[in-house]
Amino acid sequence: MKWTIGRGFLWIWTTIAMTAMAFAAVQEVKLPEGAGKKLLEDKCTACHDLSLVTEKRASRDAWAETVQMMKLSGADLNDAETTTLVDYLAANLGPAGSAPAAAGGLPAGDGKNIVEGACTSCHGVDYITDAHYSKDQWTEVVERMKLSGAAVQDSEMPALVDYLTKNFGPRQ
Ligand code: HEC
Ligand code: HEC
Repeated sequence: MKWTIGRGFLWIWTTIAMTAMAFAAVQEVKLPEGAGKKLLEDKCTACHDLSLVTEKRASRDAWAETVQMMKLSGADLNDAETTTLVDYLAANLGPAGSAPAAAGGLPAGDGKNIVEGACTSCHGVDYITDAHYSKDQWTEVVERMKLSGAAVQDSEMPALVDYLTKNFGPRQ
């Protein structure tokens, strides 16, 4: 059992590390000023690229959870530092739309929230907005992302796939 978990973890880690590397190549990570900036630079860069952090948009609760997970993995933060960092992350990398860095995002529509909730933790929305797929192709992509870890409920699938096809359908 231990062995299985180890392998799964390593696989996810490798996938994410590769994604992070791909991002590092195309974009410089610029951190907004603030009390948490130095903590982020000091405490969150030992194991992965900061782009993994700056690509994410999440609520304060979700950030608190992520930071907790990172602490369990080995990130070294005391309680006061944890609060400062979570505040900083929630203020600067809040749910898409609210954060300055998230400007130029997604068109309005029923699936927008699902994309923001399930599709932005590993890569930018540009992966999605640059794509031009038919309904069948989008269904396949989303199934593949679910296998990688995208948290899309079955009940959300129709709205999500319709939204993607309507806004990022095949080129005319
Ligand atoms: C000891 C190693 C380590 C440190 C230090 C670390 N991380 Fe991570 N982090 C990981 C690993 C491994 C993954 C990929 C597996 C996973 O998601 O648990 C990851 C994934 C992530 C992700 C993407 C997954 C998600 O939940 O959205 C974010 C965001 C993240 N880390 C933020 C941070 C922040 C913020 C810090 C500083 C508090 C930090 N990390 C410090 C090991 C670390
Ligand atoms: C757990 C991490 C993760 C999540 C969450 C995630 N993706 Fe991805 N996505 C990846 C990785 C890794 C790649 C690059 C490798 C690949 O293409 O499979 C990728 C690539 C893509 C691509 C470009 C490749 C292609 O086939 O066109 C699209 C489009 C895409 N994702 C859409 C989505 C959508 C839509 C969601 C939400 C349902 C989503 N992603 C959520 C990890 C993720």
